[in-house]
Amino acid sequence: MWMYEKRLAFPINIKKRDLKLAKVIMSQYGGPQGELGAALRYLNQSYTMPDDYGKTLLKDIGTEELSHVEMLCEMMVALTKGATYEDFKEAGMEDYYTEHGIDLYPQNASGLPFTTAYISSVGDVFANIHEDMAAEEKARAVYENLIDLTTDPEVLKPLLFLRQREIVHYARFKELLEHYKNK
Ligand SMILES: [Fe+2]
Repeated sequence: MWMYEKRLAFPINIKKRDLKLAKVIMSQYGGPQGELGAALRYLNQSYTMPDDYGKTLLKDIGTEELSHVEMLCEMMVALTKGATYEDFKEAGMEDYYTEHGIDLYPQNASGLPFTTAYISSVGDVFANIHEDMAAEEKARAVYENLIDLTTDPEVLKPLLFLRQREIVHYARFKELLEHYKNK
């Protein structure tokens, strides 16, 4: 059972509009290394893990990734708040505005829509956990790329928080891998 807690995992206080930044941050929403894929990957794998340790860990982290989706969506909303079609044109985002107006849409920074081809489950606990660890490392790297692209402290703070969580998740998955290796 899931329960919705009406607060963000980390506060978002972005005040400065930046459409181009919203567009690249969208990659961590619906891109191949993004939080939506991470949540689906772990929650999907959780049901067939060999024991309660694995099932619970994947559900915990998968659920946390959903809270990161929520943070990213709030960041993108703040970065596009009050934007007109002229602002989208000025940012060179006529293509996005045409398809989605001011709504959010899970896609990567180049506009490719989210696909479940970004996730896998192969019926082998070691292969699955290795995929999860690689996913965390790739997500960390993308957050570092995004950190390179902004100087706004109110954008940097949540990005640094999200990057740090990827490092923690990687460590948790590594412990889980050791647990099954030693069984
Ligand atoms: Fe993660």
